Amino acid sequence: MAVKNETWRGTDVIVTERLKLVPWEDTEADAKEIYRMASNPNVGPHAGWKPHESLEESRTILREMFLPFGGGHDTFSIRLKDTGRVIGSIGTYEDTAREGVKSLEIGYWLDEAEWHKGYMTEACRAIQDYAFLKYDLAIMAIRTSNVNFRSQGVIRNCGFTYEGTIRKAYRIYTGEDRDSRFYSITREEWEAR
Ligand SMILES: CC(C)(COP(=O)(O)OP(=O)(O)OC[C@H]1O[C@@H](n2cnc3c(N)ncnc32)[C@H](O)[C@@H]1OP(=O)(O)O)[C@@H](O)C(=O)NCCC(=O)NCCS
Repeated sequence: MAVKNETWRGTDVIVTERLKLVPWEDTEADAKEIYRMASNPNVGPHAGWKPHESLEESRTILREMFLPFGGGHDTFSIRLKDTGRVIGSIGTYEDTAREGVKSLEIGYWLDEAEWHKGYMTEACRAIQDYAFLKYDLAIMAIRTSNVNFRSQGVIRNCGFTYEGTIRKAYRIYTGEDRDSRFYSITREEWEAR
């Protein structure tokens, strides 16, 4: 296994070569970090979500989407191991494309200042290790839009196989309909790498 696990207030912390993945906390500091990164208009729209417009909005998303932790809905802040600086978010969620199969889907985003340094590849591979081991999964899934080439790069780096595209799969906040590219990695493929 490429990652080392520690515990943080009863939940898991994942440590990689350069990163620490720490469960988000219900603090003003974490809400401010999310707002700092997610209010940037270059981040959310690539993933289909609207840039955060206020600290209050970031606080609500932190509480409603990031804090419920466990059972496969596990969202981590991504921190630089050396400095502790928060640089993004990654998590696992219900795989809504599968039924009755032990599967989770991965979602992520990174502070624009930290793109192109291989950080999300490192974080995503760690989350694969964590979730396959913790939840005894048969498969893991990820999807991204046809126009998100950076995310497609991360997905390629993490050994996912392209499954197909659902055209006009979802409408984003601007009213634009986007195609969704689906990928997965089986337990056997993950074990073999
Ligand atoms: C997508 C995102 C997480 C990538 O993070 P990152 O840390 O920069 O990614 P990495 O550096 O680990 O890897 C990106 C890969 O894509 C490649 N890449 C980067 N930009 C690219 C582009 N415009 N076209 C094609 N490939 C590109 C990189 O070369 C790299 O591959 P490599 O390691 O073989 O060189 C980041 O850009 C982001 O947060 N974007 C906005 C939010 C988002 O899109 N979230 C994902 C929703 S599905």
